[in-house]
Amino acid sequence: SENSIQPISNDKLLIIAHRGASAFAPEHTMTAYEIAHQADVDYIEIDLQMTKDGVLVAMHDEKVDRTTDGLGFVKEYTLEELKQLNAGKWFNETYPDLANKEFEQEKVPTLEEIFVQFGDDVNYYIELKSPRIYKGMEEKLFSLLKKYDLLGEDHTLPKVIVESFNEDTLTKFHTLEPTLPLVQLFSFKEKAALSHLDYERLQTYASGIGVNLKSVDQEFIHEAQLNGLQVHLYSIKTENEMKNAIHLDANGVFVDNPILSELQ
Ligand code: G3P
Ligand code: CA
Repeated sequence: SENSIQPISNDKLLIIAHRGASAFAPEHTMTAYEIAHQADVDYIEIDLQMTKDGVLVAMHDEKVDRTTDGLGFVKEYTLEELKQLNAGKWFNETYPDLANKEFEQEKVPTLEEIFVQFGDDVNYYIELKSPRIYKGMEEKLFSLLKKYDLLGEDHTLPKVIVESFNEDTLTKFHTLEPTLPLVQLFSFKEKAALSHLDYERLQTYASGIGVNLKSVDQEFIHEAQLNGLQVHLYSIKTENEMKNAIHLDANGVFVDNPILSELQ
C-alpha cells in the first residue's frame, strides 16, 4: 500500500541533474553524469529507451537523430549497432562554445553501465520513456535495480525515484515494488490543474508530481503538497527560473546546470 512508500525528504530542495549536467556536456553521456556527480547533486536524471534486443539505454528521444550521428528509432537498433554511434559530436557542432574533442569519444550508455560506473555513489531519478512501445520495460528496470541492490530503504534520500508521464507504467511499477517512490509527470499546456479525483488516484501510487515550471503558481504547488505530493519542477535553465522555483516552494528542480543549486 502507499503507506510503505519510502519518504522523499521534505527538508531540502532536491537538485536533480536533468539528463546529467546537460548544460555542460552532451546529455545522457557518462561525462554529463560524471560532472553532475562532481557537483554533488541529489539525483542524476536518466531517461530510458530500449534497443531491439531489449537493452535499456539512456536517451531522451525515441529516435537517435538528435543526439547521435545515426538515424532512426532506438527500437530498430541492436545494442551492438547502437554502440557504433557517436553520442558527442552533435553537441560540439550545436554548441561550438562548449565543444570539447573528448566528447567525441562518447557512446550511448546502457543503464547497466551507469549502475556499474556510479554504484551507490549517486542517487538515480529514472524516467520510463515511451513504455507503450517497449514491452516489458518496467520488469527490466526492476530486475536491474534488484541486481545492483538499489532498492534499499536505509538512506537519507531514496536511492532511486522512478518517473513517467504514463500512469499505467507507474501503477505497474508500484505493484512490482510498492516501497519505491514514484513521480507522475504532467505536461500542462496552460495553467496546471488537478481535480479531487486526480489527487485520489495519485495518492494510491505516487509520492510526487513533476510539472513544467511555466504552468504552475504557488497555489497549485501548495494544494498538491496538502494532498501529500511533492512537487518537482522541470526544466530549470536560468538563475531567474531557479529563484522562481524556490519562491514557489517547490520540493525539487530538474536543472541542466547543477551550479544553479548554489542559489539556494
Ligand atoms: O522528467 C522531467 C523532465 O525531464 C521531463 O521532460 O522531456 O526532459 O524528459 P523531458
Ligand atoms: Ca526526463
